[in-house]
Amino acid sequence: MADLTRVAEQDLMKSSVEEADKPALVAEPPANLDDNSSSSGRGCFAEKEKEDTGGHQPKVSRNRKREFEDDSRKVHMGEGHGQTVAAHYNELQEVGVEKRSESRIFYLRNFNNWMKSVLIGEFIDKVRQKKNSITVLDLGCGKGGDLLKWRKGRIHKLVCTDIAEVSVQQCQQRYSDMKVRSRPSERIFNAEFIQADSSKELLSSKYDDPAMCFDICSCQFVYHYSFETYEQADMMLKNACGNLCRGGYFIGTTPNSFELVKRLEASPTNSFGNDIYTVKFEKKGEYPLFGCKYDFHLEGVVDVPEFLVYFPLLEEMAKKYSMKLVYKKTFREFYEENMKNEEHKMLLKRMKALEQYPANDHSSLASDKPDDYEHVEELMKNGKAELPMGTLSKSEWEATSIYLVFAFEKQL
Ligand SMILES: C[S@@+](CC[C@H](N)C(=O)[O-])C[C@H]1O[C@@H](n2cnc3c(N)ncnc32)[C@H](O)[C@@H]1O
Repeated sequence: MADLTRVAEQDLMKSSVEEADKPALVAEPPANLDDNSSSSGRGCFAEKEKEDTGGHQPKVSRNRKREFEDDSRKVHMGEGHGQTVAAHYNELQEVGVEKRSESRIFYLRNFNNWMKSVLIGEFIDKVRQKKNSITVLDLGCGKGGDLLKWRKGRIHKLVCTDIAEVSVQQCQQRYSDMKVRSRPSERIFNAEFIQADSSKELLSSKYDDPAMCFDICSCQFVYHYSFETYEQADMMLKNACGNLCRGGYFIGTTPNSFELVKRLEASPTNSFGNDIYTVKFEKKGEYPLFGCKYDFHLEGVVDVPEFLVYFPLLEEMAKKYSMKLVYKKTFREFYEENMKNEEHKMLLKRMKALEQYPANDHSSLASDKPDDYEHVEELMKNGKAELPMGTLSKSEWEATSIYLVFAFEKQL
């Protein structure tokens, strides 16, 4: 998906103190957005699950095998959408703090960033119980949006890699700036930067130490680009998990295929969305396991081709690399669970991950459509909330609730 999280984390750190004494920003997401119990749309995948994975083992038909072989040829010929994706991310401009705060999706970006912070923090804590010197692979690092999270986690070594060369350069620059600005007493992690297409090239040969073993591979909003072909998805998995230490974690965020198909099936056309995002499929009703392309458009960003990731298949494929699923949660589930933790709730405020409703005298709401906040009014009517409260506009909830959070653990 397009870069939903680019927020200058420095700004977030700075805002922590002044935000602390604002009114409690506790909100519930609009109730009807991602009700996974609904059968609409899920049916196609439930059937697919039986048909293609036999519950767990994917059975690949002869035609499907032929498809894989054709895809494989494409990979070796360097075809596919990787270059389009790289070009898109290379062209994305870094925007200043002021411009960013004016963005219609300011809170959505912050919210997604909070989700990543909590996820990353959780797994750093898990590893830290076993060892102190933590090594991380940030696969699809972009412009380095997570550098401050690694700094906060006091890791020892980071390898940043991305298909987009300009992004890798900007990430490296951000790392150097961070080092220069840090206190002399603070030990900042060592870092290595690699431009590579992780769905087509083996990363290990590019590391300073090819035998490097990672405690965490973090793949935030990236893995779905690899589901163009089986070979690409497998190569990205190999890069993510092949060099993990025993007990290491592969964590990430990716669109939830059930949610995408559910919304598509409910739409009268081949697309769905709202005023800030649009997802456009080529057709409805047929969802191949690989190469099921859709175009994702986000406010102020051009279309990027992405691919549906059928999660039960990813879970199966990961077994090849001795990976066991620890959990898979929708953004909604993850948010609701983590909001029970006071520290995470405070972080949500500090990161400005929710907007205050109603706006105060010095601010205006992100959306000027009154029905974008009807879920808050509904909560109020039912006596379930007090104003002012923290929320996202309905359009932003709809965009963020497409995603899921996952974590795998290396068994051997
Ligand atoms: C939505 S951005 C996320 C960036 C970063 N992970 C974050 O959360 O801020 C997706 C990133 O995946 C990268 N990407 C897409 N396909 C890739 C591939 N085949 N190999 C490596 N990186 C890829 C893009 O260049 C882009 O930087």
